[in-house]
Amino acid sequence: MSPVKTLSPLSPDTRDTDDAAQKPSRRRFLQSAAASAAVAAAPLASTARAQQQAATPAVAPPVTSAPTMPVKLTINGHPYELQVEARTTLLDALREYADLTGTKKGCDRGQCGACTVIAGGRRINSCLTLAVMHEGESITTVEGLAPGGDALSPLQRAFIEKDAFQCGYCTPGQLCSATALIDEYRAGDASAATADVRFRPAQLSDDEIRERMSGNICRCGAYPNIVAAVKFVASSQG
Ligand code: FES
Ligand code: FES
Repeated sequence: MSPVKTLSPLSPDTRDTDDAAQKPSRRRFLQSAAASAAVAAAPLASTARAQQQAATPAVAPPVTSAPTMPVKLTINGHPYELQVEARTTLLDALREYADLTGTKKGCDRGQCGACTVIAGGRRINSCLTLAVMHEGESITTVEGLAPGGDALSPLQRAFIEKDAFQCGYCTPGQLCSATALIDEYRAGDASAATADVRFRPAQLSDDEIRERMSGNICRCGAYPNIVAAVKFVASSQG
């Protein structure tokens, strides 16, 4: 006879235990939900802390004044001794230190010519050069073009008579540039528009003037009248 396999009925306790293993009780569900929330909240809390720290303005480093050095310039015939930082451009030295604000800052990067002055007899963009590089030099700005008093230079008069400006912002640079241009022409300097560089052109043509003034931008577009003013003075003075 084959042995009889006895199957005892499951007691109520055993049934509860097995049920509990397979189905989470309400208490277990609440416990595990609370644990999950704690785990999820941990990174959020650290992110909020990081954002709070990022929003806190950084403490600015203490302002330290850069070392300065003296530079001696003769500006419009007057001696100046300025105490400037080595990085100060000639343009800023004129405007901010010598208080000669006739020279204008347009682009501050050598593109517009508004800052043109005459340094050591040559017209330059004063925004592209450092003041300390001109130690001992003579600088002429728009304030120094007129002979003095109420008198104007021939070019200044011609700019008025020929209506060679509108807003006037570029005019100081145009006047310094044109003043040096006429000196260059008289000295026999050629330009890219000079047909025969062995000879000084008998007259400054419109093309010559446009080429020689091409570093000075006028946003008002007063170019035809500027050319007329320069031509008038160049031809009347020989
Ligand atoms: S300000 Fe110097 S060239 Fe424009
Ligand atoms: S007159 Fe206005 S930019 Fe020349």
